[in-house]
Amino acid sequence: MKTIGVLTSGGDAPGMNAAIRAVVRTALARGVETVGIRRGYAGMIAADFEPLSSRSVGGIARWGGTILQTARSLEFQTPEGFQEALENIRSYGIEGVVVIGGDGSLNGARALQNAGFPTVGVPGSIDNDLCGTDMAIGVDTATNTILEAIDKVKDTASSHERAFLIEVMGRRSGYLALAAGIAGGAEVIIVPEYPTSIDQILAEMRATRVRGKPHFIVIVAEGATPKAMEIREAMSATKTGFDARLTVLGHVQRGGSPSAADRLLATKLGSAAVDALLEGKTGVMVGIQGTQTALVPYDEVLACVRPPEEELLRLGTIIGL
Ligand code: F6P
Repeated sequence: MKTIGVLTSGGDAPGMNAAIRAVVRTALARGVETVGIRRGYAGMIAADFEPLSSRSVGGIARWGGTILQTARSLEFQTPEGFQEALENIRSYGIEGVVVIGGDGSLNGARALQNAGFPTVGVPGSIDNDLCGTDMAIGVDTATNTILEAIDKVKDTASSHERAFLIEVMGRRSGYLALAAGIAGGAEVIIVPEYPTSIDQILAEMRATRVRGKPHFIVIVAEGATPKAMEIREAMSATKTGFDARLTVLGHVQRGGSPSAADRLLATKLGSAAVDALLEGKTGVMVGIQGTQTALVPYDEVLACVRPPEEELLRLGTIIGL
């Protein structure tokens, strides 16, 4: 291969730019040019391409978001859109593509691979819901963003003797809720993988009051059951000893300058993705397992949702007592 492409797709994640930098510079080190495909698969359909030089990626590792921008493209899932995209990259002379994104993005990468066009995936999603990798790009930075919010909410919750529900991202995975909730010492953490009941939460709340704690912090993943809003309403409707408030962190969790851990992870994964592509090891996602990168076939990655670590689940139930 003499020319490869790189794109970012799906929800952006802090560290994506470090991955783009690693792709471009690793390719150049092997005498290969890189073309940036803007706006994910939507840009592939629109032939929105721009050659990337070493200077194009200078100084970008510290920026959140993605210089190539991203999109969620329904058109790419249509036969016409897919064919248009495939013809565009082939006629531009792009011989393989590194796809940086979450499960939807890797589904698209697999479709290209299955159509005979070589791709390698890089896990980029703050949710950390991808199988085949211990961590995805953006997770560490998002966890720290949430933790900063928990610490701040705790100040006001203690001052007013209030209960706070903090809703965090994570449609399918409770990793962010668990990691930040444990680090922040939340009393209760609710994850999509393990539905709970409002009565159980209210009982925990009363017990916390009896123990004399001045606050009650509940971290709720957006994909969990019950929803944060439902719990908030129940808290306000019954006597629990705490006044209740709700904070939804939303897209704040997706921004910010990437942590050192995310920049390092993104650099390792982006560089390994280029090596795999140029060595013909395609149709795989580059994951991190322990300290080693690993090549995981798309079918294996996309067959499951990364389950929460048992250790985190255990710690999540005791650390806020
Ligand atoms: O997939 C990452 C993610 O941030 C999810 O946690 C969240 O539910 C979703 O993206 C939000 O999607 P959008 O940015 O398109 O609203």
